[in-house]
Amino acid sequence: MPFVSLEGRKLFYREAGAGRPVLLLHGFPFTHESFWPQLDAPPAGLRLLAPDHRGFGQSEPGPGPSTMEALASDALALLDALGLARATVGGVSMGGYVSLALARLAPERVEALLLLDTQASADDDAGRQRREAAARDAETGGMAPIARAMLPRLFAPGAPADPVARIDRIMRENSSAATAAASRGMGERADTMAVLRGLAVPCLVVVGELDAITPPEKARAMAEAAQGARLEVIAGAGHLAHLERPEQVNAILAEFLLGSR
Ligand code: MLT
Repeated sequence: MPFVSLEGRKLFYREAGAGRPVLLLHGFPFTHESFWPQLDAPPAGLRLLAPDHRGFGQSEPGPGPSTMEALASDALALLDALGLARATVGGVSMGGYVSLALARLAPERVEALLLLDTQASADDDAGRQRREAAARDAETGGMAPIARAMLPRLFAPGAPADPVARIDRIMRENSSAATAAASRGMGERADTMAVLRGLAVPCLVVVGELDAITPPEKARAMAEAAQGARLEVIAGAGHLAHLERPEQVNAILAEFLLGSR
């Protein structure tokens, strides 16, 4: 099983394919497994690297709050451990917040940016209060109330039953402490529009047309901020477009990345 040790703390990652390195950073409160359609069929020419963020899945918890910068530092340490100076950095939703934090911390490590069903804006006060309430729910009630609240918002109506059931299981099996820490970390995150405005590498923004959590207007704002960015709206898909329309999203990723070498 692939683990790297970050100052004595184990970080799990799954690797698939060979070629140009692509970090895939998962959303909240998932694990690397939430990239199964990508990891099970990696496009030729791409080496996919999908860690479990600290405390999630098989990764050990880290010290302090799980800010987006802390999760980005873990991802950078994974690249260091693998001897990779640069990689394409991509993430879904919270993974996108982490990707943008990484691009701010270490722009020289980013070869291209993939932003899937995510946003660059910070939470407002009401949003931060919801993060704190979700963190307390996880701490007191475990993962069942979190999964129950999130599941209906993650997929478009009529989404295939398999990905819905698998994501439900992934959420329920996760650590409630890691979920609480990441919820608070998301609440603290900064607006990263300036990162996009200063971006000097190719950027792909993908969003489900029916994404109820980070809707297409958020994606459009990011694509407009990053000069030359490509925007793809996936018709009929919700917040997890890469699971609802895996073949379409995989083809877009492969074409964007292998054409942008
Ligand atoms: C996610 O999918 O990572 C979360 O829904 C992001 C969020 O709650 O902002």
